[in-house]
Amino acid sequence: MAKITKLDDIVSLCKRRGFIFQSSEIYGGLASCYDYGPLGVELKNNVKSAWWKAVVQLRDDIVGLDCSILMHPLVWKASGHTDQFADLVAECKKCNVRTRVDHLEDKAAEQVDSSGRSLPQPEEHTEHISIDAALARAQDLSNKVCPNCGTVGQFTEPMPFKLMFETQMGANVDDSMTLYIRPETAQGIFANFANVLDTTRVKIPFGIAQIGKSFRNEVTTKAFIFRTREFEQAELEFFCEPGTDDQWFEHWKEARFNWYIGLGLNKDNLHFREHDADELAHYAKACVDIEYRFPFGSGDWQELEGIANRTDYDLRQHQRGIRTLNKWYESDRDVTKIELAEETEDYSKGPLSYFDDQQKKRYIPYVIEPSAGIDRSALAFLVDAYDEEEVRGEKRNLLRFSPALAPIKVAVFPLVKRDGMPEIARNIYNDLKKYFNCFYDEKGAIGRRYRRQDEAGTPFCITVDGQTLEDSTVTVRERDSMEQVRISTDQLLTHLREKLEV
Ligand code: GAP
Repeated sequence: MAKITKLDDIVSLCKRRGFIFQSSEIYGGLASCYDYGPLGVELKNNVKSAWWKAVVQLRDDIVGLDCSILMHPLVWKASGHTDQFADLVAECKKCNVRTRVDHLEDKAAEQVDSSGRSLPQPEEHTEHISIDAALARAQDLSNKVCPNCGTVGQFTEPMPFKLMFETQMGANVDDSMTLYIRPETAQGIFANFANVLDTTRVKIPFGIAQIGKSFRNEVTTKAFIFRTREFEQAELEFFCEPGTDDQWFEHWKEARFNWYIGLGLNKDNLHFREHDADELAHYAKACVDIEYRFPFGSGDWQELEGIANRTDYDLRQHQRGIRTLNKWYESDRDVTKIELAEETEDYSKGPLSYFDDQQKKRYIPYVIEPSAGIDRSALAFLVDAYDEEEVRGEKRNLLRFSPALAPIKVAVFPLVKRDGMPEIARNIYNDLKKYFNCFYDEKGAIGRRYRRQDEAGTPFCITVDGQTLEDSTVTVRERDSMEQVRISTDQLLTHLREKLEV
């Protein structure tokens, strides 16, 4: 139960302090869509920057991309999404609510609280599996409970529910066509593989990274920003020679796991979960999830990031996609009416192959894909950083963010609004804000100002007081220990830079 309270506390702190709001709240809200407020956007940008720094900036073998969300519909035919990207759902015959079959609970497993309300249960771990795999795994639903109305075993036959959003492009009836709003950023990378090869000096092994929005018409959304219909992904496609893929898979498992720990996630709340053969996505040879112990239901492990060995599947499929163009024109540009062109025998020499000029051989590279969710990571960082403690008989809420993620790095206060203290504090603030995100506050009791910054996760607060007027020193208060040290104003920047490591 404590963990349920914790997520509720985080949701309420996020709203109260301007991290995350319900989308369109003034109109009653739009389910499963969220807006990031002033502190939230800083947190999210910091998560993205930390990812980009680790994955692109600090490495010599990875370049970045920023692709458009709308892509040619054949991209999604070739990738397998138009045919396979669906969840298997069953509709309750009593209340007509559809639920993912893999999210239905057995009657026996259902738990209720003291007032008889159904408690959320740990659900199956998988994000999405291919519809063929889902059908193969679909079980007898006679003992399953509808999570909406509680009726047992009254479901329709399981049916696929397509997850990609569709839209129309083009103003004229004759040339308008159906497009898909991308459900992952990865395909933009595969579609630009040849462009990157032709325009940069990359050589295999190398990676292409991208951060961007993705959209899925999820059947079940849940737990705040954990699973939403619009979300942001950070994906890397790392291209390597077939035969070296297992080694690179291990490399990326370790690198990605350590990234979360380096940014402050408690190691005890993180683990790997290997996928069984029957739950592998249609493109994967191997897949492992980095799971975080999110505080939902009885407190269960949920996917934070997936790392997949996608083999040469995508590049080979896009070679078939390119060869399907004529058929697509002939079919009124409707990908649902056509089959992909067959693969040619010499596919390894196709337009998306790679020529290794040292080994003098041509092949289609294998791909290792670490695929992270930015919103989900932000939630994990919020959950892990959240703490409550009692200080002098009062509750103190705080977010123990690592400095790299903290939305505000330093807050500057004058102790009182007189004796020239506000002017000195403002000067310090104006100097420091050139280097990191700072906040100035002169309103209210100093204790309350500290508490507000603790709740925002601000690592350091600087206070200008009476002694500053005498010896040009200020107090620097550290968020977690609440310890205060006096630092000379001319040493302040160096001191903070050292502590913040930014
Ligand atoms: N390209 C591979 C791919 O998209 P995925 O497991 O479907 O794989 C990768 O998604 C990551 O994206 C997940 O681990 C999760 O962090 C995030 N993600 C996926 N669906 C999401 C959703 N509906 N809401 C929030 N994050 C999501």
